[in-house]
Amino acid sequence: MAAALEVRGRTPSQIRLRRRFLRWVPVGAGDRVLEVGCGTGVVVRDLAALVGRRGRVSAVDTSATLLARARSLSRGAPGGRIVFRRADGSRLPFGDGRFDVALAITVILHVEDPLRVVKEMTRVTRPGGRVGLQDQDFGLIGATHPDRELTAKIFDGVAARIYAEPHSGRRLGALLRASGLADVKMIADVYQDTTLTQFSRNFLGRRAENAVRFGIVDAPTAERWLDGFNALRAEGNFVLTMQYFGAAGVKPAPGRR
Ligand SMILES: C[S@@+](CC[C@H](N)C(=O)[O-])C[C@H]1O[C@@H](n2cnc3c(N)ncnc32)[C@H](O)[C@@H]1O
Repeated sequence: MAAALEVRGRTPSQIRLRRRFLRWVPVGAGDRVLEVGCGTGVVVRDLAALVGRRGRVSAVDTSATLLARARSLSRGAPGGRIVFRRADGSRLPFGDGRFDVALAITVILHVEDPLRVVKEMTRVTRPGGRVGLQDQDFGLIGATHPDRELTAKIFDGVAARIYAEPHSGRRLGALLRASGLADVKMIADVYQDTTLTQFSRNFLGRRAENAVRFGIVDAPTAERWLDGFNALRAEGNFVLTMQYFGAAGVKPAPGRR
């Protein structure tokens, strides 16, 4: 998991869409920022550079292993001070109004009760501050493959078993409104790959493994499916796109909505 997050973090199309989202929220110099579900700290290191020496980044995750990795990878990272804490996004160990910005990036898709987490993020954000979410939407994957039916069966079947709401990306704006945020805006972006990057390889490999694990296809069929992508790459015809959505809203002043 840690290695896969770092591979994704280094993939150029992912760097572009992550940084575009952070500027769009926006996160700026001097901000006190919270990231919920920081993993190995890919976003945290970008945030520290964005907020600069006057700013501060707090980051929480439920996984002690990932936090240990995040701490070691962020040592000496340029920019604002970074503080990691082990905590669940649905019970944040911070007082009300502590942050200018609270973010969750590719996390909401994985949590049991997204509304509870976003309400907590809103609580710890100051009035006038921003709450921002970014997620993939697993209903919107574009892939070239000779067997379109099998591809849809694997993508849709695995996503339905792994995530409570595979289409969570497109619903992020509604989630922010339900949490009491105002001026909610949305941005769509896309991960695109025509070279079969290591990140795409990992993603397709995990989908194939899970399709076998959940009994959606047998092992030889999963192998054949992966071979189809390798053949396309050899011909120069590989294409994989994944839709991402971002949403951001402003915490209203008390008594206003
Ligand atoms: C896909 S990773 C994203 C990591 C990082 N935001 C990034 O984009 O590289 C999802 C992370 O959310 C964490 N997570 C899941 N549920 C959580 C919760 N309820 N509270 C805090 N972290 C959570 C997981 O441990 C994992 O590190």
